[in-house]
Amino acid sequence: MSELFTGNNKNGLTRELVEAVFCIFEEASAGGIAVDRDSRIIWINKSYADLLGAGDPAQLVGRPVREVIPHTRMPEVVETGKPLLLDIMEYNRQQLVVTRLPYSDDSGRIVGAVAFVLYDDLQPLTPMVAKYRRLHQDLAAARKALAKKARGTRYNLGNFVGASPGALEVKRRARLAAGRDMPVLLLGETGTGKEVLAQGIHSVSGRSDQPFVGVNVAAVPDNLLEAEFFGVAPGAYTGADRRTRDGKFRLANGGTLFLDEVGDMPLPLQAKLLRALQEGEVEPLGSNKVIPVDVRVIAATSRNLEAMIADGSFRSDLYYRLNVLEIPIPPLRERLADLGVLCEALLGDIREGLDVRGEITDAGIAALGSYDWPGNVRELRNVLVRALTMSEEGGLLDADAIFKVLPKGSHRLPPALISRPVRPLAQTLAEAEAEAIEAALVASRGNRTRAAGLLGISRSVLYDKLSKMS
Ligand SMILES: Nc1ncnc2c1ncn2[C@@H]1O[C@H](COP(=O)(O)OP(=O)(O)OP(=O)(O)O)[C@@H](O)[C@H]1O
Ligand SMILES: [Mg+2]
Repeated sequence: MSELFTGNNKNGLTRELVEAVFCIFEEASAGGIAVDRDSRIIWINKSYADLLGAGDPAQLVGRPVREVIPHTRMPEVVETGKPLLLDIMEYNRQQLVVTRLPYSDDSGRIVGAVAFVLYDDLQPLTPMVAKYRRLHQDLAAARKALAKKARGTRYNLGNFVGASPGALEVKRRARLAAGRDMPVLLLGETGTGKEVLAQGIHSVSGRSDQPFVGVNVAAVPDNLLEAEFFGVAPGAYTGADRRTRDGKFRLANGGTLFLDEVGDMPLPLQAKLLRALQEGEVEPLGSNKVIPVDVRVIAATSRNLEAMIADGSFRSDLYYRLNVLEIPIPPLRERLADLGVLCEALLGDIREGLDVRGEITDAGIAALGSYDWPGNVRELRNVLVRALTMSEEGGLLDADAIFKVLPKGSHRLPPALISRPVRPLAQTLAEAEAEAIEAALVASRGNRTRAAGLLGISRSVLYDKLSKMS
């Protein structure tokens, strides 16, 4: 091979060094080949000839390289004089990772090209590809977070997905709330979308270009809540911590303050919050000055505030102050008709985040309807993520894929015949019908055709009834 390196090396490289590097490449790679200016093979080593299944390397010398390796781009390298440092080449259904370099004579004229097969399968590149994908996902997440930061919110009203009567009523009230500057109280179980809705209302309100600031009352220790809300004046604390800190009220000035889990607020702070809301001003800790603030409050809780008022743990005057417009968000089990659109939206989002494929069949959706969703939409999202993670390539979620990931023994069963107050016959009949349909869906493991068979009705009648149940 030394005849390839007859030229003077620039940059002080010795011929020994160049040859040594060449030898390492030749040994470590899965094959090496060189061609002349006419792209005819002038050298090929044994490992490459073996890889090509071509037998004796000497037999190949002198033949046009394209005749031996149809997809090679060595002629292109000779032609342009530009190296192809990394490329994937197909040979006999095999994928080879190759590098190709031109070489020149003393006068700098390109007289041929040399190539090495770095890997004879893509396996060693898997960690690199996985890392690249991960970085790509991190980048997408960071971009999303930045966009959120720029706007203060991540959701608009369209992000509250649902077309059932219950969901439509939620959206109607949210639009009403957005148009007026009044306090709003969102009531709903965990995972029903209180945060989604609070951000949505802010983003379509007249304050949308002002900050949206959330405080999760349950997440802040009681003794820090006051400072969190109202801030700390300079010199309020002696000793090390002399910093001034703006409270959330001031940070939200001009915009919206989201009081999440407001039912978890200790009574003394309830009194201070009420005062701040009534007066429109706050007094930072350790200060004797009041600062005017202009915020619209959206409060949320999963607790039963009326019961808390009855047992003395929530102030009724604060309740009336916060509850000018109440938006009760129904739990998912009361709006199962939304499962289809919710899956559509959630899968779209999951696909984007995880960079996977994912669809759900009608039977898969029916299977989801057999569960009672204590964790609501958040739990639905988790179930879909789990099902997709466990699914085969292609990610088509059918009833089986769903049943595999639903918590065991959790299926909603028709309530036993317990004594109930007497109600209008139509209501009793509708409930009995809904229960019979649910029982049939459970028995058929979500298969609607089979469920319809069990009920003695047609599939279309079953669909019609399901769409009316919510
Ligand atoms: N109606 C909905 N449409 C689309 N996504 C929803 C909806 N409701 C909830 N989600 C999704 O479910 C998850 C939980 O929603 P969110 O945080 O708003 O619930 P929450 O009511 O504030 O719950 P918690 O009381 O536990 O804080 C989020 O990922 C959100 O995107
Ligand atoms: Mg929340």
